[in-house]
Amino acid sequence: MRTQVGIVGAGPAGLMLSHLLHLAGISSIIVENKSRAYCEARVRAGLMEHWVAHMLIETGVGERLQREAMVHDGIYIAFNGEARHIDFHKLIGKQVYIYDQKEVVTDLIARRLADGGQILFEVEDTSLIYDFIGGDPKIRFRHEGREQLIECDFIGGCDGFHGICRPSFPDRALRGYDRVYPFGWLGILSESPPPENELIYCFHERGFALFSMRGPDLSRLYLQCAPDEDIDRWSDQRIWDELEARLGGVRPLVRGSILQKGITPMRSYVTEPMQAGRVFLAGDAAHIVPPTGAKGMNLAMADVRVLARAFEAHYRSGRDDLLANYSATCLSRVWKGQRFSWWMTQMLHRHSDEIDFDTKRQIAEIDYVTSSPAAMTSLAENYAGLPME
Ligand code: PHB
Repeated sequence: MRTQVGIVGAGPAGLMLSHLLHLAGISSIIVENKSRAYCEARVRAGLMEHWVAHMLIETGVGERLQREAMVHDGIYIAFNGEARHIDFHKLIGKQVYIYDQKEVVTDLIARRLADGGQILFEVEDTSLIYDFIGGDPKIRFRHEGREQLIECDFIGGCDGFHGICRPSFPDRALRGYDRVYPFGWLGILSESPPPENELIYCFHERGFALFSMRGPDLSRLYLQCAPDEDIDRWSDQRIWDELEARLGGVRPLVRGSILQKGITPMRSYVTEPMQAGRVFLAGDAAHIVPPTGAKGMNLAMADVRVLARAFEAHYRSGRDDLLANYSATCLSRVWKGQRFSWWMTQMLHRHSDEIDFDTKRQIAEIDYVTSSPAAMTSLAENYAGLPME
């Protein structure tokens, strides 16, 4: 097989890259080790920055999003038994969209296939054949029992944090920067209305909690827990009691049947640079954020938009400056996303069992951030999405 851009991974980054390249007349093939059903069912991040929603709409994959996404003007931050609203729309004229990553994936797969795109699911033993100095890279894998090879001009490594692309880079080509947090999130999906029609981030003595949603009768709720928490120790009753305690009486909480539960680890990671030779990393393959700032899918979408434009300049006009600057362009946004995610995380989580200096400082910070128009504007700009141009 031969294509212009070989893409590893059919998550939001790989699929959107393939879609944008198609619109620019550039061919690509995606290989993915999971099944199509698995990719379309995995409940992941749910919050989309305004420009990402607009990009999906403008590039013709936003039809269902426009019908089904919930559009929010802002968020609530609750502490000391009070929920304070930060109204992004009033402060900076932007809104955010609740639309699960799995819906984005479902829409993009349908669109790529309708446009004649090639996505090979359930491939095995994928590896890159490339010396990182010269020549054209290749992707080798097994599909339907046969050894296969894709020859391409470039590779898009969109295969997530545990993918094969980043470890294929030569030793010392990359440097990783990370921060591991001493807690995780226990997340549930529940058949019940959320306590508010926008998200509530709760700072509470018992630990952080987040009240999000996937629909008017479908809640997505999270509790700060130990990083190695044993989910079997959490009965439905215990989860609901803890959520109610941490909501602190700011809204009534309706309980429902729990459809899914799991533990999310909390980590920040960035690799620099995001490219070597003709292999370009995008999304979680290059960086991950703790979910508190809701930046994961948004940073992935920003990477592939930069990358698609760089490939377009290469093929249309033989200009390679955008490709050469890919890493630097992305990293300046990535580090701002890292800073914001780290800041939200440290501000809203409990770091010790006692009420200590940091607890008092955090309460002062939350009080300030939810009352000063300057501070609220700064939060709004980062949360709703920094400018993309
Ligand atoms: C979610 O709805 O899954 C969600 C929303 C906002 C976050 C994290 C997760 O910060």
